Amino acid sequence: MNGSVLTLDDIAAADREDFRREVLAGLAQKARAIPARFLYDARGSALFDEICELPEYYLTRTETRILAERAPEIARLAGPHPALVEFGSGSSVKSRLLLDAIGDLAAYAPIDISREHLEASAARLRRDYPGLNVEPVCGDYMTLERLPHMGADGRHLGFFPGSTVGNLEPADATAFLRRARRLLGDDGALVLGVDLRKDARVLHDAYNDAAGVTAAFTLNLLRRMNRELHASFDLDGFAHEAFYNEGEGRIEIYVRSLRDQQVNVAGRSFGFARGERVHTEYSYKYDLPGIEALARSGGFRIGALWTDPERLFAVAYLEAACTK
Ligand code: AVJ
Repeated sequence: MNGSVLTLDDIAAADREDFRREVLAGLAQKARAIPARFLYDARGSALFDEICELPEYYLTRTETRILAERAPEIARLAGPHPALVEFGSGSSVKSRLLLDAIGDLAAYAPIDISREHLEASAARLRRDYPGLNVEPVCGDYMTLERLPHMGADGRHLGFFPGSTVGNLEPADATAFLRRARRLLGDDGALVLGVDLRKDARVLHDAYNDAAGVTAAFTLNLLRRMNRELHASFDLDGFAHEAFYNEGEGRIEIYVRSLRDQQVNVAGRSFGFARGERVHTEYSYKYDLPGIEALARSGGFRIGALWTDPERLFAVAYLEAACTK
């Protein structure tokens, strides 16, 4: 390596090593699991974009509608000269609704783990919002220690849309909110998108679409292991499995082995019994008391909360609670 300068190749190698380590550790456990963040390689991200367009996947369009309608109110609540901080910005599509509504934004800091995504979307934003101070932060929002200095004299307004918080187990969701609370400061606020508990059939269908896109998204993890970790998964030997666990209030997603089989991954051999599963995702669904408890556990209180007429999805405006 050349001094402290990281090349794109260095970053790719480090990402691959992280993937290898997590996969080998995850497959060695009794309850096998691979962290959900690894679903989003280039193909996985494209498949997720397709999921967002599915008739069964009501989340994206419902949240977008709520945000489009409430953006002026959010701008009013945020007050003058806020700095917008987006946790896990991806392509920053929804943030544009807020960028359009907040006329006097001091800065926009998209945080994303993918440098490629981040640079591409920052370039598009600078083109579309000339004069906006865009301060991209490449990093993991679960461990980020500080925000760039943005010279905002208004409050820091966090944005965590898409029910991404639902991927986190409750203790991790609380840890994330506490971190966001600390990063955003005593005057901070957080716009949080949360999927609501509802009819089990509607939830089931959202993760078992007729076109099979969600199945392709889950099974893409096997493809990624084949490509990046020299694994030997037979894609026809495994199936996507997703169901609503009503007691826990969460969708659970797994890759299920369809027969007894042996698979090589990164030079090791793993046996899979027929019916054996590898956990890939939880998607937690909340009710109003649950959102309230979550907010409180993270050091926030609910300043406002909006839902759609069918109460499918909620957007909460959380305000930093006094810690004294
Ligand atoms: C991106 C975590 C919000 O849980 O609904 C969609 C991911 N997985 N279909 C979700 C997902 C399968 C999605 N989140």
